[in-house]
Amino acid sequence: MSKKLFIETLGCAMNVRDSEHMIAELNAHEGYELTEDASSADLILINTCSVREKPVHKLFSELGVFNKLKKADAKIGVCGCTASHLGKEIIKRAPYVSFVLGARNVSKIADVLHRDKAVEIEIDYDESQFAFKDFRSSPYKAYINISIGCDKQCTFCIVPKTRGDEISIPADLIVAEARKAVENGAKEVFLLGQNVNNYGRRFSGENEKINFTELLRRVSAIEGLERIRFTSPHPLHMDDEFIEEFARNPKICKSMHMPLQSGSNEILKSMKRGYTKEWFLNRAAKLRSLVPDVSISTDIIVAFPGESDADFEDTLDVMKQVRFEQVFSFKYSPRPLTEAEGFTNSVDSEVGSHRLSALQAYQDTILDSISAAMLGKEVEVYFEELRSDGYVAGRSDNNAVVKVKGSEEWLGRIARVKITEVSRSVQYGEIVA
Ligand code: 5AD
Ligand code: SF4
Repeated sequence: MSKKLFIETLGCAMNVRDSEHMIAELNAHEGYELTEDASSADLILINTCSVREKPVHKLFSELGVFNKLKKADAKIGVCGCTASHLGKEIIKRAPYVSFVLGARNVSKIADVLHRDKAVEIEIDYDESQFAFKDFRSSPYKAYINISIGCDKQCTFCIVPKTRGDEISIPADLIVAEARKAVENGAKEVFLLGQNVNNYGRRFSGENEKINFTELLRRVSAIEGLERIRFTSPHPLHMDDEFIEEFARNPKICKSMHMPLQSGSNEILKSMKRGYTKEWFLNRAAKLRSLVPDVSISTDIIVAFPGESDADFEDTLDVMKQVRFEQVFSFKYSPRPLTEAEGFTNSVDSEVGSHRLSALQAYQDTILDSISAAMLGKEVEVYFEELRSDGYVAGRSDNNAVVKVKGSEEWLGRIARVKITEVSRSVQYGEIVA
């Protein structure tokens, strides 16, 4: 009987891709098969996120639960960003953990597996990270790394410490991976990196140096590929050439993630984001004018150290002007190894919670009017998921989740759907063609 692997993936799309890679490595070298039942697994992996403090706390309680329910001889491994930043501390606090494998070291999974109490967390550049193995959690869309690490110095963010320096993956490898995914049936590729539109900043060798816009052109030339998405672009690098290619290229899905973080120039400076409120508004306006149907999503942090009521009002003002289709909002969480951890002008926690709920309530009013306007519209949906309630679900070109009554025959197909019922998070419709 084959050995069983249970894997839990937290955090971002980069982690999802890292998990796919570990699943493929363990299958190829060790014959592991996936299971959804942790208690029957021979190996339990948690692929962690460290961007905020809460999930880190949760990790240790979860580890305790897994330790109780696991088979006697099963191993538990902690991987990903929290593994990178806590390292051997994890084994100190949870001695039953067999190994710790950092976000930049996932290619070593089949190796650490056999080294009890191994801790592999270097963030040096390692070329084996480039060629990811061929396991896809969805046959319909392929996550593809285009760069690893991050060179920015946002003062709130731990990621450069967990994922290391930013290195772009050679364009020919990316195009070859995308082509292979399309040959295997995917109609959509999702290009991944911490700052995708900074692509080309640094390569490891003598590779052809191209920028993100040129990479998009090359990927879009792949025959049979119908949709390109990417995450995350950085507002600072949204130059005209990039926005114009985004607007012009029919294969690029019309949804853009623009992480604002704050609308206040003072706070943006203290976060070291490199752009101003005015630049951000200018870029969003250019996008909306060239792509009327674009949906823009964002990340916002409230209660960053020093944030006054007036700073917070600036953030609400950007929300009012841009009218984001989706907002991921967070209360600032001080992180080790970051510059802002040492800032002393912290905002009272209650004030932070209050601002977070005010912001979310404001966004709900915007969302209500955005979704009401979708009623009766026709959108192109790529169906990817069969739901147990008799619906198939997919995403519209501009990233709305759309459900229609139907069966698996629709999976992997793109169809025109008329929206007949709307809510803040899901739209319902009928297939028209
Ligand atoms: N506190 C709160 N939110 C954070 N993020 C990153 N670091 C922190 C932090 N220290 C948010 C940012 C980022 C998203 C992935 O997580 O908004 O864009
Ligand atoms: Fe992804 Fe950042 Fe979380 Fe690491 S810390 S998993 S890069 S969101």
